[in-house]
Amino acid sequence: MNNMFNDLLLKALRKENVPRPPVWFMRQAGRYLPEYQKVRSEVGFLELCNNPELACEVSLQPFERFGVDAVIVFSDILLPAQNMGLELEFTSFGPKINNLVSNSADVRKLQIPLANDETYPTLKAISLLKKAVGSKVPIIGFAGAPWTLFCYMVEGYSSHNFNRAKTFLYANTQDAQQLLSKITNTLFLYLTMQVNAGAQVLQIFDTWAGVLSLEDYKTYAIPYLKHLIDDLQPLKVPIILYTNNSHHLLSEITKLKVSAHSLDWRIKLQAVRDKYGVDFGIQGNLDPAILLTNQSVIREKTKNMIHGVKNWQTGYICNLGHGILPNTPIDNVHTMIDTVYEFANETVVSFVH
Ligand code: CP3
Repeated sequence: MNNMFNDLLLKALRKENVPRPPVWFMRQAGRYLPEYQKVRSEVGFLELCNNPELACEVSLQPFERFGVDAVIVFSDILLPAQNMGLELEFTSFGPKINNLVSNSADVRKLQIPLANDETYPTLKAISLLKKAVGSKVPIIGFAGAPWTLFCYMVEGYSSHNFNRAKTFLYANTQDAQQLLSKITNTLFLYLTMQVNAGAQVLQIFDTWAGVLSLEDYKTYAIPYLKHLIDDLQPLKVPIILYTNNSHHLLSEITKLKVSAHSLDWRIKLQAVRDKYGVDFGIQGNLDPAILLTNQSVIREKTKNMIHGVKNWQTGYICNLGHGILPNTPIDNVHTMIDTVYEFANETVVSFVH
């Protein structure tokens, strides 16, 4: 059994029936894991991302500890910005870009970097992962969406509203569009090479989609996102699109050619399926704060979430609505996974009846 390839995630993405939902966590490798903390006490975050052996080791940690149904390569959505020409730093407050984009000259200076092992050590990390666990579990590659990367490149750091990025978008629209276009081309090359290196699923993170109105998201963000997703289709790799705070954007987002939409806890998953089809691929969406509570709350909320998706056997992937929080107790993660595993028994029972 242990030697078999775990294809639950790939099956769910193909809308084939599964005995229980596949489960993995956004940000599953990271600060809540003592084994990650140990590695990080010796190397900086960027150094870790750019060291293929260590990045591979850290990517495997949640797989080894929990047996999650997918391994996501350890890296960060901001690394392409660095290759394009920005000075990226990670401080205790999060990412910081020192020479952020302010005008058309800044946009013109930016490169569309080639994607190879030198520009992106992450590609090497993916090939190491492929060797280490490629026969056991699918490997997820990822990137930020053009709009989310734009937000960081113009704002310089995480913000609640990204007003500086929005101002640039509305007041310097042509420059903004050129920047979005350069980002899109960069991401296409990078994601293509991730697939060549061994990624079997791609997840695109549009974390800051929700700061735009439907009208503006449709005008400024969707064209680039659509371009990227359409250009990736020939690779025949399933794509998961994560958007946060995106209730108001669903009518546009759902037109994109992705295998699943990863949604946050503010959205009722079944309502999305009722509207967009029973087979509509969905991933999510437990509030990460629930993993800070206790076993009985976690069990109940996880069960309710899965039961809340009428035909969870098809096209549903269990995950959180956003990344796992740094102070999440390990046992709580086990509890959520165990609760998901119990659905396999439920299926057997319901077949018998
Ligand atoms: O999921 C995984 O396990 C793979 C690794 C991964 C990281 N970042 C590692 C990381 C992934 C998929 C990301 C994506 C990412 N990075 C996103 C999109 C998803 C999301 O959470 O919205 C965004 C917006 C970023 C940008 C970023 N990187 C921020 C805002 C921060 C600081 C605050 C935070 O949330 O951690 C980071 C740092 C970062 N990226 C850490 C990790 C493990 C913490 C760094 C540390 O070890 O100190």
